[in-house]
Amino acid sequence: MKNYKTITVPLLFLLPLTTAFPAFQINHRQESSPSTPFDHELQHIDTSSQHQFKPPRSTDHRGPCPALNALANHGYISRTGRTNMEEASKAVNSVFGLSVSLSKFLTGMALLAAGDPWSKVFSIGDSHEFALQEPRGNIGDDLGKPDPSDTHIDWRPHMHKPPGGLSRTQGTFDSDSSISRPDAFLADYGAAPPAAGGQELELDVADTPLMSHIDKIHEIAAEMNMNMTNIGVWREAKRRRVEASKRENPIFLTTPFAGIVAGGVMNTLFPSLLFANHSKEQPDGTFDLNILYDWYGVYPKGPSGWEVRKGWERIPAGFNRIHPSKEITMMDVMSEASTLIFELVLSLGGNVNATDTYEKVDFNVLTGGQYQSYHFRGWRPKVFGCFLRSHLLQGSIGAFEKLFKVVGVPTGLLIEVLEVFDEMKCAEAGRWSVLEAWERFGGLRIWKGIF
Ligand SMILES: *[C@@H]1O[C@H](CO)[C@@H](O)[C@H](O)[C@H]1NC(C)=O
Ligand SMILES: *[C@@H]1O[C@H](CO)[C@@H](O)[C@H](O)[C@H]1NC(C)=O
Ligand SMILES: *[C@@H]1O[C@H](CO)[C@@H](O)[C@H](O)[C@H]1NC(C)=O
Repeated sequence: MKNYKTITVPLLFLLPLTTAFPAFQINHRQESSPSTPFDHELQHIDTSSQHQFKPPRSTDHRGPCPALNALANHGYISRTGRTNMEEASKAVNSVFGLSVSLSKFLTGMALLAAGDPWSKVFSIGDSHEFALQEPRGNIGDDLGKPDPSDTHIDWRPHMHKPPGGLSRTQGTFDSDSSISRPDAFLADYGAAPPAAGGQELELDVADTPLMSHIDKIHEIAAEMNMNMTNIGVWREAKRRRVEASKRENPIFLTTPFAGIVAGGVMNTLFPSLLFANHSKEQPDGTFDLNILYDWYGVYPKGPSGWEVRKGWERIPAGFNRIHPSKEITMMDVMSEASTLIFELVLSLGGNVNATDTYEKVDFNVLTGGQYQSYHFRGWRPKVFGCFLRSHLLQGSIGAFEKLFKVVGVPTGLLIEVLEVFDEMKCAEAGRWSVLEAWERFGGLRIWKGIF
C-alpha cells in the first residue's frame, strides 16, 4: 500500500530498540505489486442459490466471529451454526484463502476450546441444546449432507460439562478488546463479578454499542487518510480498544493464543486482507463502507440510520477473495503477531485486580527464564511462533483437566494441529509454570482461560 509509511515511520520514533526493524517486511503482505494476479474463476465466491444469504433462524447458533457467522448464513458451513472441524476447516480455506494447515490449526483450536473433540463438532455460538437434546441429523441439513457424527454425540463420558460453543470461550479462544464487540465482562456483567464466563448472543437484536465500534473503524481510516485495505487502520483500531479495556475492564487479559492470535491477528491481518474485495482492476483489493457493513451485519434503519443485527453478517455481493497464490500461512499470522507486540499494540499480561492495574506477564515465572520480554522486541515471527507452541503445549495440561475427564483424544488433536509449527523447527521447552504465571491476573481466575 502506498500509504503504509505514513503510519509506520512516525511510530518508529516512539519505540525503543528500533534499529533492526524491517518495516518493509512487516507490511510485506500488504505491498502493492503490479504482478498480483487476479482470476475470477478461482477467486469468486458464490452467493447465489444454495449459498445465498439467509438470516439465522431462532434455533440456529451464531457467535462472536463475524467470518464464521457469515459462512453459516451462506451455507458454507451448516446454517445451524453447529459445524465440525473438517467442514469449518474446508470453508475457511476455500472462502477466505487461509492455507490448509492454518485452517486446520485454527478450527482445531476452536474445537478444543468450544466443542467435543470426540465427535469433532462445535457450535460457532452458544450451545444450550448441544449434544443429546439436539435433534439428530441437524448438522449440514441445509448443505444436503447430514453429518454422521451427529448421531452419536454424547459428551457425558468424557467431558465435565457440555461443550460451551465459541460464545463461551472467553480466555481460551475469544478475548477482550475486540475491534467490533464489547469485552465479555463489560457486556455481561457491568461491574459485578461473573460466576462463569461467556457471552450470550441474542439473534437479530439491534445493538447501538456494536454500531459505534464498527463505525469507529471507518472513522479511523478517514482520520488516517487510508483505505481499510491498509492494515495500519486495523492496528490503530485495536490499539484504541486495548487502551479502553485497560481503563474499563478490571479483568482485561491478553494471553498468547486467545489474546494475540485470535484477538489480535484476527482483528488486523484477517479483516484487512480477507474481507477486502478483489477485482481485475484492483487485484490488491478494495474495501469501502458497504463491504464493512456487510461483513459486520450492519443494516439500514429507517430513512437515514443504521443498526447492527447480531448474527446477520453477510458475504458482500459479487465478492472475490484473495488469489490462491497469496494464501495466508502460519508464518503470516506469526509475523503479524510479532508486529502487534513489537509495535506495542498488544502485550502479554492483563489488569491484575482492578481497572488501570495493567501488568505484563512475568516471563521468568512463565518460562523458567527460557524467554524474556526482550526476545519479543523486533520483528521475530519465529520467536513468537515457538513461544506460542510451547505455551499451548504446556498450558493445555491445566486447561484440558478443567474441560475433559479424559485427555488422550484432545491431547492427540492438539499435537496434530500443532504440526503447523514444524517448519519453524522449534526447540522443546523446559519446565514452564503457565498457571502460576497467569493466575495472578483476575481474568484467568474468572474465565479459567490459559491459551
Ligand atoms: C482508496 O482506494 C481507492 C481505490 O480503490 C483510491 O481511489 C483512493 O485514492 C484510496 N484512498 C486513499 C486514502 O488511499
Ligand atoms: C466486488 O468486486 C467485483 C468485481 O469488481 C464487483 O463486481 C462487485 O460488485 C464487488 N462487490 C462489492 C460489494 O463491492
Ligand atoms: C489490588 O492489589 C494491590 C496490590 O497487591 C492492592 O494494594 C489492592 O488493594 C488490590 N485492589 C483490589 C481492588 O483488590
